[in-house]
Amino acid sequence: MKFKTIIEPFRIKMVEPIRQTTREERERLLAEAHYNLFLLKAEDVLIDLLTDSGTGAMSSGQWAGMMLGDESYAGAKSFYKFETAVRTITGLKHVIPTHQGRAAERILFGSVLKPGDIVPNNTHFDTTRANTEYRGATALDIPIPEAHDPAIILPFKGNIDLAALERTLVENPGNVPLAMITVTNNSGGGQPVSMANIRAASEICHRHNVPLFLDCCRFAENAWFIKTREEGYADKTPLEIAQEMFSYVDGATMSAKKDGMGNIGGFLALNDDAWAQECKNLLILTEGFPTYGGLAGYDLEALAVGLEEVLHEDYLQYRIRSVAYLGDILTSNGIPIVQPPGGHAIYIDAKGMLPHIPQSEYPAWALSLALYLEGGIRSVEIGSVMFGHQPDGSEKPAAMELVRLAFPRRVYTQSHVDYLAEVLLYVNSIKESIRGVRIVDAPPMLRHFSAKMALI
Ligand code: F0G
Repeated sequence: MKFKTIIEPFRIKMVEPIRQTTREERERLLAEAHYNLFLLKAEDVLIDLLTDSGTGAMSSGQWAGMMLGDESYAGAKSFYKFETAVRTITGLKHVIPTHQGRAAERILFGSVLKPGDIVPNNTHFDTTRANTEYRGATALDIPIPEAHDPAIILPFKGNIDLAALERTLVENPGNVPLAMITVTNNSGGGQPVSMANIRAASEICHRHNVPLFLDCCRFAENAWFIKTREEGYADKTPLEIAQEMFSYVDGATMSAKKDGMGNIGGFLALNDDAWAQECKNLLILTEGFPTYGGLAGYDLEALAVGLEEVLHEDYLQYRIRSVAYLGDILTSNGIPIVQPPGGHAIYIDAKGMLPHIPQSEYPAWALSLALYLEGGIRSVEIGSVMFGHQPDGSEKPAAMELVRLAFPRRVYTQSHVDYLAEVLLYVNSIKESIRGVRIVDAPPMLRHFSAKMALI
């Protein structure tokens, strides 16, 4: 290419206004929301980086596909398109649609986990952990040790610790029904997992007769990192790389609200006939018949197109670059982030940025409130409010206190990112004034969604 500027590889056909509020309004809105950003009204948010899940813009191709939705209860044409799209990428035998990722987790774990079991994973996402613990099983996080140091720069900081995986399988024969790898490692900073790591984990698991599953929400972003960072993959297409990733595993759960480019949807895909039958029985109980799994026919159409579009090279190049662009500005201005920038989000290291707030006062939560108060930006805490509460009722500080700025797909432009950077630099300049928070009231599980908080 003669020109170096990486552009958004689309033009905009439909717009949705966003609304400015004043700092005074936001002060009041925060108090009304009990200092929990999940409890804000979305219309009171200027730039919403709470999640990249289900918040993307669909393409004209997806919207056109939706008009073809076959709403038949059983055997709809749309299901077979969806199944083909998933099989083309994963090669997995049984494709079970679900309304989102956690439904796939619930059905899988409901079928195969029993109390006392252990599920190793590079890092469980919060719903994956909660669904494991709900079955009385242990969700064991074993990322490589470097994953806990935000400053270390490694190409594949999402890798699973292979020695720890082997040890877990040796020490717990019969109690590990499956192992998982999350690509990219969302809770660990959106960091990718290398092909070599997936291949080696697969070899270890299969030597112990333990099936390996991918939590593959962001498989296309992971494939792009393999293409650009791992030797031997530069000339392969993202689809070929994704196909190789899935060739090493026995199944996958996916929230298609991420790299499925849909506003809703997910799937469970697996090779084992008996497990698939059991999962389908549970699916019918709570989600729906196996050819729609809680989705409309038009959702399945949108996902079939989205799963193809997400692997386009110009999209992935723009996607990964737009996240790194913000990361580069923050890094050059001394704001500590999880290095290197991840696939779908920038994670600010709140412990590093706000050393005056002890971990017991939730520095990442406090920072996320400040970003809203000063700039109308909504982010999410990935720290001790999200992960500090243990199944036995005790508190254990999270390994890292992060504020995640997640980028919805194809939604914001470069000037939005420039605005974000300006707000972040301003908040950094007044950081000594940010106060910690305390929990006033919270449910025992997944407490971050609804906890009532107060400023200290
Ligand atoms: N696994 C991972 C790695 C995820 O990031 C998510 C969702 C899920 C499973 C559950 O999928 O929401 O469709 O039920 N992550 C979103 C986020 C919510 O904001 O990171 P779901």
